[in-house]
Amino acid sequence: MNPLRPVILAASASPRMKRIVTATPVTAEIVRRFVAGEGRDELIPVVRELLASRRLVSVDFLGENTTDRAQADVTVAEYLSLINDLAAMNGFRDATARTEVSVKLSALGQALPVDGPAIATENLRILCTKAAQAGVWVTVDAEDHTTTEATLTAVREVRAEFPWLGVVLQAYLHRTEADCRELSGSRIRLCKGAYREPHTVAYQRSAEVTDSYLRCLEILMCGAGYPMVATHDPVLILAAEQLAAETGRGPDRFEHQMLFGIRDPEQLRLAAAGNAMRVYVPYGSQWYGYLTRRLAERPANLTFFLRALVSK
Ligand code: FDA
Repeated sequence: MNPLRPVILAASASPRMKRIVTATPVTAEIVRRFVAGEGRDELIPVVRELLASRRLVSVDFLGENTTDRAQADVTVAEYLSLINDLAAMNGFRDATARTEVSVKLSALGQALPVDGPAIATENLRILCTKAAQAGVWVTVDAEDHTTTEATLTAVREVRAEFPWLGVVLQAYLHRTEADCRELSGSRIRLCKGAYREPHTVAYQRSAEVTDSYLRCLEILMCGAGYPMVATHDPVLILAAEQLAAETGRGPDRFEHQMLFGIRDPEQLRLAAAGNAMRVYVPYGSQWYGYLTRRLAERPANLTFFLRALVSK
């Protein structure tokens, strides 16, 4: 794992750092690389362009760790409008070419001091009800490990009514192999994991995370569900292709997924080769947490940021 990663993630938690980064003019240039825009007016043309290039989309309205009920309600309202907009862009290719929204339960109220998990679960149900009517998919993002159990509990509950509801599992967590076995019959987005986690719950070395990812991927590919292979790592992308061939999974029975602004040529190559290639597209003004996780993943991003800062 990138040795700077824990340092960047720790520093980014400081309110002072947040003030400095968000007030720095150069930050806007970096944000534009990873975030589609602040509002739906900026998002929609980006989505159209991605769909026109044979890619699929999963759109995330940025926000996390909401401690204000009114803010959680605003987030739900924004997602309901977003689902409407995405439904209008569905079906450009075939039945599997659904648009999708990705959502963090902490943005729906999970961290509220009173009844947080119940409120987030109810809000998730509201989004799924609307999405089912609109023919749009929903997948729940994975946040730090202290939320994993509550998130999976909410997903299990809502999935009883909406079996297509997806959830993200993080290969760096020790528990994830068991979670994959339990959930392998459903829509699972497998990623490496982007938070700063202690060694008691998570693998720390990148080779260990890759090995865990491979074990989890094999479980999902051999299962009855719909694996969503969320990685930019060439080794894992190749492994997914090989496992798909071995298990007889056609391109309609699993997806490659990458983040907006990362490895664009590879996204286009996979889509042109006939694979389902979905791009996770974030938008909104609450981009700070998302941006710092992207900077932490790759020292080159941070260098780019610091260089731009110095050259101003
Ligand atoms: P790795 O970090 O090894 O990167 C492989 C290669 O990809 C790098 O060598 C580089 O070329 C490129 N790359 C990767 N990150 C880059 C970056 N930031 N900037 C530029 N290039 C980069 N995590 C989480 O904890 N919860 C979640 O819900 C999600 N959701 C999610 C959805 C989707 C669709 C994706 C693709 C990823 C996530 N993640 C996530 C993030 C994930 O956990 C992980 O941090 C990143 O995907 C980076 O890991 P890779 O598997 O890409 O490998």
